Amino acid sequence: MERRKFLSWVGVGMLASSLPVAIAACSSETSSSSPAETSSSATPEIDTTPDAEGFTAVGTNTELTTKGFIYDKQLGVIIVSNGGSIAALNPTCSHQGCDVDWKGNTGELVCPCHGSKFGVDGAVLTGPATEALPVYEFKQEGDLIKVKIA
Ligand code: FES
Repeated sequence: MERRKFLSWVGVGMLASSLPVAIAACSSETSSSSPAETSSSATPEIDTTPDAEGFTAVGTNTELTTKGFIYDKQLGVIIVSNGGSIAALNPTCSHQGCDVDWKGNTGELVCPCHGSKFGVDGAVLTGPATEALPVYEFKQEGDLIKVKIA
């Protein structure tokens, strides 16, 4: 075998042998980051099975105190803490469906799409939205905050 052919085969062999490693590296990275990216639960370790009254644990008071809000995209709820009071709301803007952001410094939920603002009671403070954000019933059990999605 000629030297050039031999080196060519060695190159192909090295490429072929490293391909599975590269694929494995990519797939393990994807699986480890995927839950964090797709999980909307702020505290995935809590039991999110609804209780007998239909309340689902969304997060903890500790987390709420630390972050000022808990957002669960999967359940479609945002829990906010404002001056010692807590509210649970549907974060979907009533204008065109964007998810609102909690602004703890002003105590408002602000839509990033067209600027509508909502109070912690869900009421529209500034349009273009004209309908309030739905407010959910919630309860606290120990450190857990549970929400009843109607
Ligand atoms: Fe929220 Fe338009 S979607 S203001």
